[in-house]
Amino acid sequence: MTATAAPPPSAAANPLLGEAPPSPAGPAPDDGRRAALPPLVRMARPLVTLRISVRQLSFLFRARRLYGETFTIRGAFGHDVVFASHPDHVKSLFTAKSELVHSTVGESPLRPIVGPNSILTSLGERHMRQRKLLLPPFHGEAVERYVAMIAEVAEREIDSWPVGRPFALGPRMQAITLDVIMSGIFGIDGTPPPGSAEQGLRETILRLSALSATPLAKAAEIINIRSEEPVGIVRRLLAELDRHLYALIAARRAAGEQERTDIFSLLLAARDEAGEPLTDHELRDELISLVLAGHETTANSLAWAFERLLRNPAAYDRLREEVRASDADAIGAADAWIEATIHETMRNRPVVPITGRRVTVPWQLGEHRLPGDTHVLISIALLHHREDVYPEPYAFRPERFLGVKPGTYTWVPFGGGIRRCLGATLAMAEQRVVLRAVARRTDMVAPDPRPERLVHRNVTMIPARGAAVVVTSRRAA
Ligand code: HEM
Repeated sequence: MTATAAPPPSAAANPLLGEAPPSPAGPAPDDGRRAALPPLVRMARPLVTLRISVRQLSFLFRARRLYGETFTIRGAFGHDVVFASHPDHVKSLFTAKSELVHSTVGESPLRPIVGPNSILTSLGERHMRQRKLLLPPFHGEAVERYVAMIAEVAEREIDSWPVGRPFALGPRMQAITLDVIMSGIFGIDGTPPPGSAEQGLRETILRLSALSATPLAKAAEIINIRSEEPVGIVRRLLAELDRHLYALIAARRAAGEQERTDIFSLLLAARDEAGEPLTDHELRDELISLVLAGHETTANSLAWAFERLLRNPAAYDRLREEVRASDADAIGAADAWIEATIHETMRNRPVVPITGRRVTVPWQLGEHRLPGDTHVLISIALLHHREDVYPEPYAFRPERFLGVKPGTYTWVPFGGGIRRCLGATLAMAEQRVVLRAVARRTDMVAPDPRPERLVHRNVTMIPARGAAVVVTSRRAA
């Protein structure tokens, strides 16, 4: 007798998934009703700025408890900021026409670093042109080509980990994801050759990342909040990065047109509507954006996955069992559990906890009607921790997503709409491959069983100890 496989649970039957009550949202009708900001969080401006920068989540969770799901904060940002976290509100902001809702990444702490010319910071027509140009190398088929390379880099990295000694997983994951993104951009296979400009760039980025976790860099970031140009420590570090990048640009230009398929070549060959190529400044901004957006995020999402797994033994045991079983049925089951684990990690610990928009016209968010020209931050973390959408929101339960596709406006770790993360397919592929390899080959424990604190680094949220682990045993590749 053959057993019939149980059908995947539908979202409706899943006790770990729910629904938010509908709430009106979108451009406000012209009915003469006065627009006003939602309730203002009562706290001194410098304290608000500090809390958003240093203890964002506890601050936001508390504000939601005290003021309701839509509230306003007044910090040192030069304008008031409204926080939104209802799926209908988020949908209205993600799907609005680009002239009605602008992205505000160009006004975030990223701007002094990536410059004004990148896909991250540009708006309107210019942004759409950049997106069209850059989409093909980040599509599913193109990403499939990277999978073997990702696996190879991951296996090599795992081989180098110490056994029986604690170390932080985050920087190790970053070494993998940096190689992957640099390979896609510059067309190098794996780690760049020693002595090359690419190698110089790679080393500088790793040093920059290590430094940017220090309290000094945090202070520099707060100082940078409203400045167009980088200042202080950020400025010095970026100068070194730029030196390598401009050297690379000069070398590629000198080499002339070549039959290459990497992203750098694509950018070099691009022409604007007047037939002009990108300037060195524009190339620099685009390249640095892709390298920065493309590796720390993915690396830290992987770090969070293991930080969570090591504190949730049932989920971790199941992952190891599934990926180590070898019959044909087991492969499908392992794929499903890996996918569910990644989805739950990105819900529970979204590496980018907020993304910004500015409404240009009066906007309805539930009972509130915002005036035109209001900054709205979508709190991905608050949305992902709604009790109505995710019962037991603070628990880490991959089975929540087993056989269930996450909702477009309830699971938004990659943002949404025309600004949705360009590298989402690549980031998912990297996480699948690395999660599988690490779970198959290693057994790990957390040196400290307490959950790691969340710290904010620029626009990301990372584990305070970089996801500290001890590998207790390692299996051959
Ligand atoms: C787990 C990893 C990642 C996370 C959590 C993440 C998250 C995000 C988020 C939240 C946004 C803003 C979306 C919005 O405002 O709607 C974004 C934008 C972006 N991401 Fe990612 N990202 C990841 C990996 C990557 C990778 C691997 C790349 C590759 C280069 C990348 C490139 C970009 C770019 C270029 C944008 C700007 C898109 C635009 O404005 O049109 N990201 N990402």
